[in-house]
Amino acid sequence: MKIASILILNGPNLNLLGSREPEKYGQQSMDDYFQYLVSEFPQFNLHYFQSNDESEIIEKIQQSKGKHQALVINPAAYTHSSIGIRDAILAIGILSIEVHLTDLNKREPFRQKSMIRDICWCSIQGFGLEGYRIAIARLLEYFHLEA
Ligand code: DQA
Repeated sequence: MKIASILILNGPNLNLLGSREPEKYGQQSMDDYFQYLVSEFPQFNLHYFQSNDESEIIEKIQQSKGKHQALVINPAAYTHSSIGIRDAILAIGILSIEVHLTDLNKREPFRQKSMIRDICWCSIQGFGLEGYRIAIARLLEYFHLEA
């Protein structure tokens, strides 16, 4: 039985994973990695959404109320600026985990500020795509499910 539904939500330019600055973001596409996650976590109903558009991301978060039990979110560039995404997470009160492929502490100063870190249950950064697997594994613990 699937215990919970989880939405993985990616922001701008993450549709280009695999080809975008591969030395930073790796060579695998998110679509391939998502298939891997689905096979790794039969306990969860996993959903994936990516958009380059802030309003679509906000809309998707709002629609998650009552539909998904947790959000694994990499807002990408919007991490550093979007009060709208922060407010949407607060508005529906969904359990959220922030993921970044790169370690923001080792990057440009403007990337070190996150608008959502303090309202997320935890933040995982610097592990590439593996960060999404770590996030979902943490949700297994949260929901007291067996790995
Ligand atoms: C990113 C880091 C952001 O600063 C950047 O704008 C991205 C990706 C990451 O996953 O490392 O697009 O969120």
